[in-house]
Amino acid sequence: MTQRRTPVEIVRFDHVSLCYPAGIPVFFNLNFSLYEGSFYFLTGASGAGKTSIMKLIYRDLRSSGGTITVFGHDISEINDTQLPKFRQKMGLVFQDCRLLPHLNALDNVALALRIAGMDLKRARAYSKELLHWVGLGDHFDFYPPTLSDGQKQRVGIARAVITRPLVLLADEPTGNVDDKSANKLILLLEELNKIGTTVMVATHNRMLVESFSHQELHLAKGELIVNNAQGNRNKSTYNIRPYSKAV
Ligand SMILES: Nc1ncnc2c1ncn2[C@@H]1O[C@H](COP(=O)(O)OP(=O)(O)O)[C@@H](O)[C@H]1O
Ligand SMILES: [Mg+2]
Repeated sequence: MTQRRTPVEIVRFDHVSLCYPAGIPVFFNLNFSLYEGSFYFLTGASGAGKTSIMKLIYRDLRSSGGTITVFGHDISEINDTQLPKFRQKMGLVFQDCRLLPHLNALDNVALALRIAGMDLKRARAYSKELLHWVGLGDHFDFYPPTLSDGQKQRVGIARAVITRPLVLLADEPTGNVDDKSANKLILLLEELNKIGTTVMVATHNRMLVESFSHQELHLAKGELIVNNAQGNRNKSTYNIRPYSKAV
């Protein structure tokens, strides 16, 4: 008899609140989990807190309250020396790509492996494979300023996934590209998801969310609402309390 595996929590927010030092509170009492091998859209208007949630997960930002557990550990306990190792298990894709302008596409991707200790020859060989995969097999020698926005994003995705991260956080990766390119980028991320990586894509592009059948975590007014792939809204399961009622 085959036994069903219990889904593994990769990320868990328990009563997490965030208030920037000189700013307005962003959210209060957020509770949600991301499960191994799943694909999520994180949506919400500009300023809703999407980037902040991602920064909290990779510990670029500390919460004002509550507990964030990633890979089974309370991340507030990770010290500065442990931080790079912790982040190596994650792939990060930024809206502005953050490619190094003085390195060509190949070496931008290879750098992630070099940092992880791989020799240059092997790192370049793996990077070539991945650049082929993202459709840039004929752009190894191109420097970031000579790539289109969509191509830069694909280099950014290749760089983020080359270390085979357990989780990929992509912050508005389709923000600067047309709908056709946006679709292609999501298809690439789906390929990655199929081989086991948990993916979370922040976006405010409704077309994308509606064309791909994935769970949606929607942020609005300090609340997080979960819409499953069938479009059913579910707030109560996640025990969300609106910020406005909590203060
Ligand atoms: N470094 C910061 N200092 C103060 N307030 C910030 C900072 N970063 C973001 N915020 C505020 O936090 C809120 C959420 O921002 P953000 O997470 O960037 O939203 P989104 O990614 O959904 O556009 C916004 O009101 C924004 O102005
Ligand atoms: Mg943002």
